[in-house]
This record gives sequence, structure tokens and C-alpha cells, in this order.
Amino acid sequence: MNLSIYHNYNTQKPSFSSLSKYSPINKEDKTTATKSYCNDTYFFRQPNQFEIMRTHLKNNFPNGTHILDYGCSDGEETYSIAMVIEDINKKEKTPLYTITGHDPSTEIIEMANKGKYKVDSWFTPDSFLSKNEPTDSIQLNSYQESFHKHFKPTGEVEKDVEVYNNIFANQISYKVNKEDFNGVVDFVGGPIEGNIDQIDKIYENKAKPGVIVFRNAWYHILENKTNSSPLGKEEIKNLKTVLKKINNTLDDNGILIVGALGRDHLLKEFKEREGIIDQSPFHKALYECNFVPLKNSAEHPIIDGRISDNIKVYTIWKKVSPKKNKLPKIFDFLNKKPLL
Ligand SMILES: C[S@@+](CC[C@H](N)C(=O)[O-])C[C@H]1O[C@@H](n2cnc3c(N)ncnc32)[C@H](O)[C@@H]1O
Repeated sequence: MNLSIYHNYNTQKPSFSSLSKYSPINKEDKTTATKSYCNDTYFFRQPNQFEIMRTHLKNNFPNGTHILDYGCSDGEETYSIAMVIEDINKKEKTPLYTITGHDPSTEIIEMANKGKYKVDSWFTPDSFLSKNEPTDSIQLNSYQESFHKHFKPTGEVEKDVEVYNNIFANQISYKVNKEDFNGVVDFVGGPIEGNIDQIDKIYENKAKPGVIVFRNAWYHILENKTNSSPLGKEEIKNLKTVLKKINNTLDDNGILIVGALGRDHLLKEFKEREGIIDQSPFHKALYECNFVPLKNSAEHPIIDGRISDNIKVYTIWKKVSPKKNKLPKIFDFLNKKPLL
């Protein structure tokens, strides 16, 4: 057992996250013509967010709700959500919680519908799934058990896989047992159904979802510009248009989950206050569109660490009524001079 990989996984350091086995298909997506997407993903990525979501669902949506997983890539994220909430998702009649994975790339949604996944036996943060022996973490053990309950090896193993000019170890192929997720998980894709920017068109006459997940993909919606330059006025406007649509789509007490990468917070550089980044133009836009960081039972906003060992960000944002929402004073300085 390579402890450094588990350690790496537990502390959510990003070192291996870009080495997705699907990187080779990051090519121009014909369905959307102008965009190319990075589909990097892996099972149980930043799983604490889903654990918090599970508690939020139990407390706020005890009679069930729908979860929208936007930017779901090949479905590893969608199935991870389903597995984390499986124990509260009573299946006797109909499941309480249903999850739809959305992605604008039709190619990646085809892969999600096939439900066949490769797990690297050594070098990716979900490598622990390729083994069927206890790890040194109770949390990972439960994920491993759940994975092996629902995903079976196909018998195919690819040796010496090349990703970004590096040769990696064996990749073991698994197939999901779809029946286990009947009526719980489904996938839709394409430039309208898959695009979070079009969420109002798809969900305007449907029951409001309690959770919208859009992780490690925010930089995509601003055409990849944000990683290299500050957010301009036009970009903030576009960002707020999407955030307002998301807010209108969510049910009362609903939550929006974003990733914990600096990139996901549309940050190139960042200023931190006591180890927490909560004052970027992205966060200001969230407040202005009636979101506030979700608090835990001790009334502390929930933070998630990934940007670096010591620096954390708010990744779970709760919908609030416009009346209750006041822009915190920390943003005053943004009116004086741009942060980025
Ligand atoms: C880096 S992957 C992240 C996958 C997964 N959310 C995760 O965190 O592991 C980003 C995904 O977002 C999708 N995406 C890009 N633009 C999108 C948009 N406007 N709406 C929904 N998904 C989008 C891409 O096709 C890609 O599959």
C-alpha cells in the first residue's frame, strides 16, 4: 500500500488530479463547435462536500428532492454522490433523492451511459478503489466497499497507459451495475441539456432541485479566460447571469456546491484572510445573487481546503431570500480598487 497516495488523497492535494485517464479525449467537441472541454474527474473527488450535502438533505429535504450534477463528465462524480447518500435514499418504493448528471459534451455523456470506468491501480487519487483491501481510513474503506458493491471488474486490464507523456501503471476496467441505480441516476448531455447556462430552459416548469453541483468547471463557463486574466465587467455580468439562473432554479434552502480549486473560484491570484479566501469577485457575485456560505451546526461557515495546505475556501453556498442577504463588509475594498 502506497501511503503517500492515500495521504495525498486525504489532504486533497491536487498533485494527481490532472492525470485523468480521459485526458486524451480532450479535443474539440463537435456538438458545441467552439469549445473544448477538460473532462478530468475521478471517483470520490472532494468527498467531504457530499458528506455535508448528505446531512443537509437529511435535515432540510427529509421527504426527498432532486440533485442536479452539472459538469458531471463521465459520471464518476454522479455515481459518487449516489453512493455517499445511498443509506438515506430509501428504495422500497421510489428513491427519495434522484440525481441527473449533465454535461455539454455528448461524447462524455455517451461514456457515462456506458458506465465503464478505468481505475488506475497506483497513481490517481481514486487508485484505492482498484484494491479490495482495507485502507488506513474508515472513510475510504466505506467508499471502497460501496464501489465494489456496485462496480464489477470486466477482466480487462490496460498496462503502461500513456497520459501526458507519462507512463502509468495498470488500469483496471469496471462496469457499473446499472440496476442498482435504476430510478436514482440518469444522464443528459448536449449544448442545451448539458449546459448550466441553459438551466432555466430545462428546469423552469419542473420541481425545484434541492442541490446543484457544479465543481471544477467554473472557468469553462467564462470561455477559459479567467485562469489567465482578471474578471472584467463583462465577465462578472455573465457570471451573475448564470448565478441568478441557478438561484432561481434551486428550491428554498437549496445549496450550490462548487469545487475547491483556486481555478474554480475564478482566481488567478488571491488574497487571504486568516487562511480563508472569501473575498474574490466570484464570492462577491455569489452574495449579490443571494447565496451565503452554508454554516455547520456550530454556526461556522463550512470551508474546504484544496488551494494549498493552509488556504481554504467556501465551497457550499446556500440560497437565501434577498431580504436576509447583506454583502459583508469584507467586500468594501473591492469598490475602491479591483482585487485581481
Ligand atoms: C474538469 S471536469 C470536472 C468534472 C467533475 N465535475 C469533477 O469535479 O470531477 C469539467 C466538466 O465540466 C463540463 N462543462 C464545461 N462547461 C460546462 C457548462 N457550461 N455547463 C455544464 N458543464 C460544463 C465539461 O464538459 C467537463 O466534463
